[in-house]
Amino acid sequence: MTEQTEKDQGEQHQELMFSSVYTQERADRYFRKHQESLSRRLSDWREKQIARKVLKMAGNPRSVLDLPCGAGRFWPILAEDPERELLAADYSEAMLETARKFQPEELVRRFRIFQTSAFDIKLDDEAVEHVFCMRLMHHIGESADRLKILREFHRVTRDSVSLSLWVDGNYKGWRRRRLEAQRASGKKVFKRRFQDRFVQSPAVLEKEFDQAGFHVLGKVDFLPGYSQWRTYVLRKKERQT
Ligand SMILES: C[S@@+](CC[C@H](N)C(=O)[O-])C[C@H]1O[C@@H](n2cnc3c(N)ncnc32)[C@H](O)[C@@H]1O
Repeated sequence: MTEQTEKDQGEQHQELMFSSVYTQERADRYFRKHQESLSRRLSDWREKQIARKVLKMAGNPRSVLDLPCGAGRFWPILAEDPERELLAADYSEAMLETARKFQPEELVRRFRIFQTSAFDIKLDDEAVEHVFCMRLMHHIGESADRLKILREFHRVTRDSVSLSLWVDGNYKGWRRRRLEAQRASGKKVFKRRFQDRFVQSPAVLEKEFDQAGFHVLGKVDFLPGYSQWRTYVLRKKERQT
């Protein structure tokens, strides 16, 4: 679900419907959300454990772009390597403001923070060793949009990418597919402005990674067989050994 909007300079860029939902209040709420209940704290803990794992799989990259960084949830993990060069970006200025406001000052100072879109990253080619992309791709329903983002990651990274998204072939993915089928047939009616989260088949996704110039280095499931969350680690094909 995309729309074309005019950039200030008059050139075209792409904006997803869900990208514009973060007011300052909503961004602040997103910061608190992952600490709200025991189940959210557990899932936050597991995601951070996975983040450490995928960084290791990618060979402990020397420089990382956290995109979208949101409220800086992964900054403490990314900064565990004191030598790592750190960049963080998000489409939403409100999210960046939340991150600056709530993350510890000395941590914020480690990051070069800037506003950008994943469709058009304001960085030179091969500017970083790794693009770390958590909880963005499951919002992208169209293959053409995912490919645009993947190709932009391929341009900006020298080596690898990690990204989390939703896959089917597990209980939660099956439930989500059933729900969408019920919505489509009109059996269930929910108030929502637009669909903003999507389950994809791993075969479809892995073909897109290949088309964008990546091979799959590894994958980690949040809770195998049950959860729809999967994190992939991709490496540029030309770097394949
Ligand atoms: C669910 S949050 C995830 C943030 C962070 N990675 C995390 O896991 O805590 C999704 C983020 O994507 C950002 N976003 C939406 N559209 C974007 C785009 N086109 N380019 C970059 N970031 C985008 C939103 O502003 C929001 O901060």
